[in-house]
Parts: sequence; C-alpha cells; structure tokens
Amino acid sequence: MFDLRQFAALAPDWYLRLQYHHELDSTNDEARRLAEAGAEHGTVVLSDHQTAGRGRRGASWVCEPGDGLLFSMVIRPSFPKTNWSRIALAAGIGIAETLNAKWGVRAQVKWPNDIYIQDKKCAGILTEAREDFVIVGIGVNVMSAPPSENARIEAIAVADVVQSPVSREMVLAALLAGIMTEVDACAGHFEAQLERLRKSCYLTGKRIKFSAHEKEFSGLVRGVGPDGALQVEVDGEVMSFSQASEINVL
Ligand code: BTN
Repeated sequence: MFDLRQFAALAPDWYLRLQYHHELDSTNDEARRLAEAGAEHGTVVLSDHQTAGRGRRGASWVCEPGDGLLFSMVIRPSFPKTNWSRIALAAGIGIAETLNAKWGVRAQVKWPNDIYIQDKKCAGILTEAREDFVIVGIGVNVMSAPPSENARIEAIAVADVVQSPVSREMVLAALLAGIMTEVDACAGHFEAQLERLRKSCYLTGKRIKFSAHEKEFSGLVRGVGPDGALQVEVDGEVMSFSQASEINVL
C-alpha cells in the first residue's frame, strides 16, 4: 500500500493535490471525471491497482499492487491546442531527466511516449485530450517489472538499476515535480527541451520498423526535428513523422 504519510513528508504541496485510491478502473478515467467536474491544473490521481488500466493503441497496462506507480495528472494548457502534442514529450523528458538526476540512472526517451533504461521499458505515457484539458497518464515500474509485454519489449524497474534504497513514494515525489516543471515550460521553452531530448533520445542512430499514415515504414532514425517530429531516413530520404506507432528497433 502507498504510504501517504511518507509521501506527505517528501512532497507536502503535491500531497494536497493528490487523490489516492486503492483501486480504480483507470486513473486516466478518474482524472478525466475530476477534470470534467472542474479539477484544477496539477490535480493528481494515484491508484495501487487498476481494473481497466490502458496503454496506447488499446493495449492494457498491467501492474501488480505495490510494484509500480499508476497515476494521472490533469493538465489545463495555457497555449493553443495545435501545440498540445508537446505535453507528452515534455512529460517524457521530465521522467527521464528526473531519474537521471536523482538516481544516476541512464534513462532515455523512446520517442514519443516511453522511457527506457538499459534497452528495456521502465515507464509509459498515455495522454488523452478533451476540449479544455489533457490527462497525462503514467505507469512506472518502480520496485519490480511485470513480465514482458511481448517478445520484443522487455521491462525493467527503477529498483533493478538503483543501488540506494528506493520507494514508490520517493519516485512519485520526484517525478511529479520533474514532470510538471517540463509540462509548464513546454509552451515557451520547447526548443530548449528538444535540445535536451536529443541528448537522451533512445532511437537516434537506430534502424526501426514502424507504422504511420496506415503504412509500414523502416529506416534509420536521424533525430528529432524542431517541431518534435521523429526524423527517419527512409530509402535515402529524411522524412518527418509527427505520429508513429508500433516502433520496433531492428
Ligand atoms: C503505454 O506505454 O502504452 C502507456 C501506458 C500508460 C499506463 C498508465 S497507468 C496510469 C494511467 N492510467 C491508465 O489507464 N493508463 C495510464
């Protein structure tokens, strides 16, 4: 069970904005319900267990109680909807850099929404936008990683790579601050964030296979462009992809 007292001591301001549940359908759904009822920017929903936890592309997100963090943040962007795709990238940068800074872990952003450590998935982000808010849902393997999602994606937990004691309370306290700083900055400082993303971009220099625009592509990742799109050299031509799914490293 999540230790609210420990969390309150570590992050008193976040404790006041935290809605904690033992069990929910999905923290994204509960955060959406709260946002629709007027919850403010920065409201956080955390659950030990989800009965209908969602990943991207209709996948489920499974985590045994106590193993990881399942939480969602209500974001009310102060900038135009055309730039809301920045939020997921900013959250990813916030997670990777916080893990690096606090625990000396080499965490990398696997564009657009995953966090990798030692070539294995440690966290995933699911953003869902409505008319005037975005829900940023995050699953992090902290104490122990679940069995692999599929044969290609192995999972890893923060505790697998950190020597010092680590707890879900400590990781949540650090991540909320790191994520919010980046999300709040992405309206005005996106270029600088992209510079940092390029340094921790897991895919750069790798050959990948992926789906975009209902087609299959394969190519060499050249980096991340000024708009946050993935730049991939396909048949000798560098193409920009603002969205892509099923990205597999070859
Ligand atoms: C992915 O890698 O596909 C994204 C996974 C996101 C999972 C988190 S767990 C908390 C929040 N609630 C959900 O139902 N999904 C997100």
